[in-house]
Amino acid sequence: MQNQESFYDLVKSRRSIRLYEQKLIDSELLDRVIEAALYAPSGKNEQNWRFIVLSGEKKEEYLEFCQRAWLKQKEVLKDKLKPSLYEFTERFFYTLGGAPVVVLCYSASNSNFVEFTNVGSVFMAMQNMMLAATIEGLGSCSMGAPLTFKKEIDKFIGKKYFEDEEKKTLDLVGTIVLGWPAHEPPTAERKRDFRVRKLNS
Ligand SMILES: Cc1cc2nc3c(=O)[nH]c(=O)nc-3n(C[C@H](O)[C@H](O)[C@H](O)COP(=O)(O)O)c2cc1C
Repeated sequence: MQNQESFYDLVKSRRSIRLYEQKLIDSELLDRVIEAALYAPSGKNEQNWRFIVLSGEKKEEYLEFCQRAWLKQKEVLKDKLKPSLYEFTERFFYTLGGAPVVVLCYSASNSNFVEFTNVGSVFMAMQNMMLAATIEGLGSCSMGAPLTFKKEIDKFIGKKYFEDEEKKTLDLVGTIVLGWPAHEPPTAERKRDFRVRKLNS
């Protein structure tokens, strides 16, 4: 068992990596990182996460797909985002930072739950995956931007790999890129102020 200090160090050392070395992730290592996700808590332990792990040619196909999708919607985003954020988004979206692996994270809806329970369980698993990546020396970044065209992702690469019955219940809720970090970004500022309120009586 790790000591407490190293756990907090791990949590604090994770940061979003947006530039990766041109180096593959060994498949056993990748399996370990994905396995960590499966130990997350989930509503009624239904483990309603579904992951599609893309590497090699499949990741390249996904990247090309993102590039085409970006070109289609860049004008809309140009109006919505600040110029600095637009450029930043474009660079990362267009290259995925050179990451060798992308994980598509689906929630299989259980209609007995409010949707937050379904989606929240998947995000818990995603965080486990990203912390496991960190302790292994890998970098990761959760990417919500591709969700703006999730219907196209589903058609292209996502849902077609699931059973017909399950397809109807699936919702792409996040994506994660994984790889060996090629930069060391500073820790993003954490604010406390009104975000934490301790009540006692
Ligand atoms: C749900 C979610 C979606 C995110 N989507 C994106 C994204 O599309 N592009 C991106 O560059 N970063 C994305 N991020 C990363 C955040 O920008 C990052 O977590 C935040 O700035 C804090 O930095 P840190 O992860 O290094 O601590 C996302 C993070 C989360 C949790």
